[in-house]
Amino acid sequence: MENQEWVYSDKVKDHFMNPRNFLFGNESQFDYDAVGTVGNPVCGDQMKMYIKVEDNKITDARWKTYGCASAIASTSALSEMIKGKTIDEALKIDAKAIDDYLGNLPKHKFHCSILGHEALADAVKEYEKNHSAGEGI
Ligand code: FES
Repeated sequence: MENQEWVYSDKVKDHFMNPRNFLFGNESQFDYDAVGTVGNPVCGDQMKMYIKVEDNKITDARWKTYGCASAIASTSALSEMIKGKTIDEALKIDAKAIDDYLGNLPKHKFHCSILGHEALADAVKEYEKNHSAGEGI
């Protein structure tokens, strides 16, 4: 065991052990505008992303997951990266950008790193649905 090394970068370990913007407790503790939920078809894990939007910008975000260390670290990083971005800019932050930010995730964990992005896209879909209702009336 002594000679075994972590396959994760220091930055991945930091985000896994100190996840940013994780939603502790129940949803009512965060005043969000929309929530997205996705499941990972590869492993069955789940991710929820809550967003606060103002003037088309994501001003804040929280998330919850049953996912693994890679999903936790990736979504922690994503939740930091999207703050202050427009919705379109935030949606462009893909798995490759998260991977670059974290300093490379193991390749076999790539499917975990897209969970946060997909939950964000689902939250945006809900946000846009709720905020386009009544337009043009
Ligand atoms: S193994 Fe399920 S999210 Fe990583």
